[in-house]
Amino acid sequence: MSLLETLRSVQHTLPEKYKSLTKTEMENRIFEIKQDLGSKLFIPCHHYQREEVFQFADATGDSLQLAQISANNREAEYIVFCGVHFMAETADMLTSNRQTVILPDMRAGCSMADMANIHQTERAWDVLQSYFGDTILPLTYVNSTAAIKAFVGRNGGATVTSSNAKNMVEWAFTQKERILFLPDQHLGRNTAYDLGVDLTEMAVWDPIQTKLIYEGTLENIKVILWKGHCSVHAHFTVKNIEFVRQTHPQMQIIVHPECSREVVARADLNGSTKYIIETIENAPSGSEWAIGTEMNLVQRLINRHPDQHIISLNPIMCPCLTMNRIDLPHLLWSLENIIDGKETNVIKVDEETARGAVLALERMFKK
Ligand code: 13P
Ligand code: SF4
Repeated sequence: MSLLETLRSVQHTLPEKYKSLTKTEMENRIFEIKQDLGSKLFIPCHHYQREEVFQFADATGDSLQLAQISANNREAEYIVFCGVHFMAETADMLTSNRQTVILPDMRAGCSMADMANIHQTERAWDVLQSYFGDTILPLTYVNSTAAIKAFVGRNGGATVTSSNAKNMVEWAFTQKERILFLPDQHLGRNTAYDLGVDLTEMAVWDPIQTKLIYEGTLENIKVILWKGHCSVHAHFTVKNIEFVRQTHPQMQIIVHPECSREVVARADLNGSTKYIIETIENAPSGSEWAIGTEMNLVQRLINRHPDQHIISLNPIMCPCLTMNRIDLPHLLWSLENIIDGKETNVIKVDEETARGAVLALERMFKK
């Protein structure tokens, strides 16, 4: 069979029949399938998922927690990952070969992860090595392809998530004089700044122009930030902060470190998804919050804490579009495919790539 025929033989898009089912029909069928499959099926779910999907989660968490939970699950034959592509890849690499990881909709990518590919990374590395020699340790946010994780692993580096970025950057500086931080410039800049690296010691690598953006002497550079960002968190601005300060002066502002340096600097608190959730959970009744993170999560926090006054820092914020690709019809479709013995939307990282990437992931887990 030619490649084209192989691709045609597998349906990657949602069949029409799922578009005519009611919400209740789909929910009932998903409950039934979950009962039938029992512990053969495991559904990990990221905090940014839609509520309609979140209700079926066997485990919920941020990207670090979901990676750990997947690694510890040896029982499930099918892991139907409700999150985005890089998270499903990580789950595949951390689970055994007899476990199958499925992403209900292959279009659930991450625009930030798409801002760095392996060819750009190798090109950047060659140029940076020519400037700095063997003084750089690569770190990659888990929001990156398995190929980039593998590159980082083979070059002595590690993955990081927003909940361990500080520890990982601290560790990186015990290994080498400089770090290359992929692909989120904001998480890299905010983390390094909090650890005392001056903004004048940070440069930006532009993968499109293949060039280092920096004014000053090369030797002073300690952190090289990949020019990538999250298109969701980029929507929180200094203007949003100023507006909340004027209209709700008593409100506390808490943001994710994927927001820009200017926004993080003006917020009261900043931290990972897990940190934001725990802060709200532990806040006293009557607390007031403007939250700068993904809207499905903010809405869930609003629903769960009616005794607090919670708003989105940006009043016209949308959920992460790629996280939102996973909906009831796609979840049901992937579960029915399992029942019918048709494995669709399977995420499989090749062994060579997985070996390198697991090196980077394990260095993170050991910290
Ligand atoms: P966490 O690491 O906080 O789960 O974030 C993942 C993500 O995609 C944030 O935009
Ligand atoms: Fe990617 Fe941003 Fe969506 Fe997170 S919120 S999955 S970083 S696009």
